[in-house]
Amino acid sequence: MRRSSWFAFGLAAVLAGVLAGCSAKPTEMAAVPNGNRFVQGGDTITPRLVRQLAKARGIVAYPQPPHVRPALVRLGRELAFDKILGGNHDVSCMTCHLPRYETGDARSLSIGSGGTGLGPDRTHPDGINIPRNAPPFFNLGAMRHLFWDGRVEVDAHGHVSTPAGAQLTPQMTKVFEFGALSAQPMFPPTSAAEMRGSSGNELSGFTDNDVTQIWAGLMHRLGTIPKYRRMFEQAYPGTRFDDMNFAYASNAIAGFIVNDLTFRNSPWDRFLDGDDRALTQQQLDGAAEFLTLKCSICHNGATLSDDQFHNVAVPQIGPGKGNGASGLDDFGRMNVTGDPADQYRFRTSPLRNVELTGPYGHDGSIISLRDFIDHYSNSDEKLMDYNPAQLIAPLRSTVLDNKSAVIAERDTLIVGVVLTPEIEDKLMDYMSALTDPAARNLSRLTPRRVPSGLPIDK
Ligand code: HEC
Ligand code: HEC
Repeated sequence: MRRSSWFAFGLAAVLAGVLAGCSAKPTEMAAVPNGNRFVQGGDTITPRLVRQLAKARGIVAYPQPPHVRPALVRLGRELAFDKILGGNHDVSCMTCHLPRYETGDARSLSIGSGGTGLGPDRTHPDGINIPRNAPPFFNLGAMRHLFWDGRVEVDAHGHVSTPAGAQLTPQMTKVFEFGALSAQPMFPPTSAAEMRGSSGNELSGFTDNDVTQIWAGLMHRLGTIPKYRRMFEQAYPGTRFDDMNFAYASNAIAGFIVNDLTFRNSPWDRFLDGDDRALTQQQLDGAAEFLTLKCSICHNGATLSDDQFHNVAVPQIGPGKGNGASGLDDFGRMNVTGDPADQYRFRTSPLRNVELTGPYGHDGSIISLRDFIDHYSNSDEKLMDYNPAQLIAPLRSTVLDNKSAVIAERDTLIVGVVLTPEIEDKLMDYMSALTDPAARNLSRLTPRRVPSGLPIDK
């Protein structure tokens, strides 16, 4: 083996360390208690050992979601599916977050306003792609940073910051009931490429930054539909529609996401809730690997994300975010903080239902889950040898030549990491334990009709 290997300090070493009461363990394992009481015979991975490892990594059960008023859920659901929020009535939120693709679009990069077709069949007449991959809506109520670069965020005091700055007024933020998630739906309808359209409607003359006017225009649209006036007033008893701003709509969509898309019945969730028999032996073995390797230094907590930003050497494809000499690069978190140390860092992905949500990474450049996991092994070589053939034809020529720069700033945690196929198999077994069966078919989300009467993408 050419370099120090990740798994040399893996499970075997921990078990040996635990058995021997050895204190010379790698730093990341320092939190695992000593003593052999976790190991019950040979190196069989027991539920008890996995619980101890999870605890040491700060991995806890996902909290029960708050009760959300049914009238708010209903309003949010219908808004999310209604193309009334699309400038030219051609996209809704769910056009890119389709129930049939587990609230993603099964594409590397999304296609917004002006596109036709859905999911893998969607095309744009001018070939315009959104720079990033559409993430799923699962368990977002607990995330403090939303979007791949965390540009919508909430601090420990509940203060929300967003790209809108002071245009997001106290009259708006006071409406938010679900943290950062309540603020997030304010933004897709303001983007010309995603929803607003760059011509052909009363909102298309603005720039993406004119959010005050766009939000007012959207409320004006909704106010022309009597059913929406009634639904808003039922969702927010005591407030007249004419006194509401777009935050009332945004918060309702968040209420829908929290209520309908919080999943905590995967085998892993049932295990954390105390069911020793929830995981198969393979899944227990996989969990022990995940919890012993560095994966869980970043993927931890209730969401399996540290809610922080790291560069894990994902290839860059597509139009990018206007960064770098080419304008085709995506500097990730640095676009939010301005700090060069944040260049190429993206938010650690929460992993519930991850089996169902490919392609993977901030730009969907890695199509299969197995390949994403394998990519952590010798990630510098994997990035250099990235195979564009896995992409759809129009994206193959867009792989950006920024690889050396990305590798130079890789998170030190993944430098020198090598995984064997056997370890990757086990990690896949663990990933399979994160799937809530109820997430496999989301057709129940789709309303029969929406107040505008426009067609529904599902
Ligand atoms: C054109 C496709 C498209 C449409 C339409 C769209 N989204 Fe998205 N959505 C995306 C993409 C792409 C991202 C990732 C963007 C980024 O991180 O910069 C995203 C990110 C998000 C996130 C952040 C998830 C996370 O894990 O941080 C949420 C929440 C979300 N969208 C909700 C919505 C809502 C609500 C609407 C409608 C108001 C909407 N989206 C409309 C494509 C779309
Ligand atoms: C240094 C922190 C860090 C470590 C260590 C780490 N990850 Fe990640 N993980 C991330 C970040 C950040 C992303 C998103 C990267 C991007 O899109 O550019 C991610 C993305 C993923 C994804 C893709 C999810 C999606 O929806 O696109 C999977 C799967 C994943 N990690 C699994 C693992 C496994 C398994 C390990 C251990 C072998 C691991 N990670 C180790 C930070 C980390």
